[in-house]
Amino acid sequence: MADTRVALVTGGSRGIGAEITRQLVARRLNVVYTYRSGRREAAALAAELGPSACPAHFDLGDAASAEALVEAALSRWGRLDSLVLNAGMWQGGRLERVNPAVWASVIETNVVGSAQVARAALPALCGGDTASITVVSSAVGIVGFSGDTAYASAKAALVGFARSLAKEVARDGVRVNVLAPGFVATDMTAEIPERSRERILDDLVLRRPGTAQEVATAAVFLAEDATYCTGTVLSVDGGWTL
Ligand SMILES: NC(=O)c1ccc[n+]([C@@H]2O[C@H](COP(=O)([O-])OP(=O)(O)OC[C@H]3O[C@@H](n4cnc5c(N)ncnc54)[C@H](OP(=O)(O)O)[C@@H]3O)[C@@H](O)[C@H]2O)c1
Repeated sequence: MADTRVALVTGGSRGIGAEITRQLVARRLNVVYTYRSGRREAAALAAELGPSACPAHFDLGDAASAEALVEAALSRWGRLDSLVLNAGMWQGGRLERVNPAVWASVIETNVVGSAQVARAALPALCGGDTASITVVSSAVGIVGFSGDTAYASAKAALVGFARSLAKEVARDGVRVNVLAPGFVATDMTAEIPERSRERILDDLVLRRPGTAQEVATAAVFLAEDATYCTGTVLSVDGGWTL
């Protein structure tokens, strides 16, 4: 088996996931990163990062394709050491105004989709030396946010998922940790209405949004360096949850 560690990052075409991909490649890992609609952005990142970074199409709504995704990483590099479940979607709205089918799809996409990628990756991760799964949750899943019941439920569920999985796979040499970012300047937060942005900024002890780079550094720490952490929830949120 080749010596170079291999990571799979979901949602790597932009935002936090693209930054995690950059930092993992800078750490000399080979990385498969996924895109759904951002084919052009994913190709631009591949051109920027060179042969250590490989884009793959993946839709969290098509959980059945998770196995093909893991297979793509294995056939390209022969091993898998680190899985970063970063891909996610946000849909806001007060409970009474969100269509139940839309509400359920937020859970289905964010929770079921990510869990199926972890499920597909486990056989490869368990066969390695030291492996990790890093699940990207959110401060909103910890403190809640008015107008965000679906997204907050999904992100809270991911914490329970990760902490349970950490107990299931510790003996197989796999650490599972959670990253809980706060308010980060990406395309996702660009969709948030101005009034809500002001409410969030009021709650941030550090008085500013985080950057994708700051969050990615913490993700790489959990994935690659935090060898005595499993089941940890690391908040990177400017003091939002303080
Ligand atoms: N930004 C924040 O303030 C913040 C705070 C807390 C937590 N988070 C979490 O951090 C993660 C990354 O957020 P971000 O701000 O970087 O988001 P972003 O800029 O909107 O990027 C989202 C990424 O996920 C992919 N994606 C979206 N829906 C998908 C689906 N159904 N199937 C597969 N991939 C999908 C996108 O792919 P395409 O572009 O190719 O479609 C993109 O690569 C998410 O899990 C988010 O919930 C973000």
